[in-house]
Amino acid sequence: MAQVTVIGAGTMGNGIAHVFAQNGHDVTLVDVQAGALERALGTIARNLDRILAKGGIQQEERDATLGRIATSTDLAGGVAGADLVVEAATEHEEVKLNLFRAIDAAAPEGCILASNTSSIPITRIAAVTGRPDLVIGMHFMNPVPVMKLVEVIRGYATSDATTAQVMEWSRALGKVPVEVNDFPGFVANRILMPMINEAIITLHEGVAGVEEIDTVMKLGMAHPMGPLQLADFIGLDVCLSILRVMHEGFGNPKYAPCPLLVNMVTAGRLGAKSGEGFYLHTPGSKELVVAPRFRGAAVTAVQ
Ligand code: CAA
Repeated sequence: MAQVTVIGAGTMGNGIAHVFAQNGHDVTLVDVQAGALERALGTIARNLDRILAKGGIQQEERDATLGRIATSTDLAGGVAGADLVVEAATEHEEVKLNLFRAIDAAAPEGCILASNTSSIPITRIAAVTGRPDLVIGMHFMNPVPVMKLVEVIRGYATSDATTAQVMEWSRALGKVPVEVNDFPGFVANRILMPMINEAIITLHEGVAGVEEIDTVMKLGMAHPMGPLQLADFIGLDVCLSILRVMHEGFGNPKYAPCPLLVNMVTAGRLGAKSGEGFYLHTPGSKELVVAPRFRGAAVTAVQ
């Protein structure tokens, strides 16, 4: 069983630590903030309890999973014994590149370095390390314990052996890995983000309201969530930053973010994490409440 270190204890990091631990790996979860590590362990315990309550696991498996997760605020110590490091820290390129320099310096020779980045080029991350053949993208989807996909991204220098190993580890987690090449947005976000952006443009132009747009996509296309609800769930800042990476990376105006999205992010309306986006979000409530700004029928030219 590979010893796994996960960097970053946010939503994606705690989900990734959860699935590796539940599948028998010893995991070290690393974050600069001790408080974030504590909150992550609480979230993992709650998610395991949810699976336990539905009969998906037994009490012993729940306890053993938690027992396999160690936490640390020391990056160098945390990666020292790892076979695989999965980085799931903030989507800020300079922060990520510095992290990879530090991880590369401290991780054992032969250790595979994966990033859960949703849009930063793997080739660029690999280039700041001394082991570009061992650097790869492992893009998990949120919520990690539920979503089956791992988008496995090969950087320009990623070796066949590294790719094969990561595909095998992903399958052993019960996931379905899909191998893709390193171009802006990879596959998942190259297709998802223009759809979300188009939904926002449709709202912005007053074609239909928030609920109407989401209902069309839920009932007409069998999407579990409408694109505006999904954008809130992902984080509007994250959607904007991915669109900007694609807009800049391809130089094609079709990826230009809708001005309404830019305004909402500037105003701090980031979706679920800030309490308001296209919907209002109350912790613990699943009720869909459209944000006051978007209430009423099709709002003409919402700004
Ligand atoms: N941990 C463990 N289990 C969880 C969970 C979690 N965090 N969240 C939900 N579940 C489980 C529930 O226990 C439930 O299990 P059963 O089917 O066994 O009953 C199941 O998932 C469904 O949950 P709910 O009934 O509570 O809620 P739901 O039916 O509304 O489903 C959802 C929730 C799975 C999130 C669903 O709404 C959905 O599929 N949404 C879209 C998710 C999506 O598109 N994710 C990708 C986002 S893009 C991304 O991540 C990448 C990027 O780069 C931007």
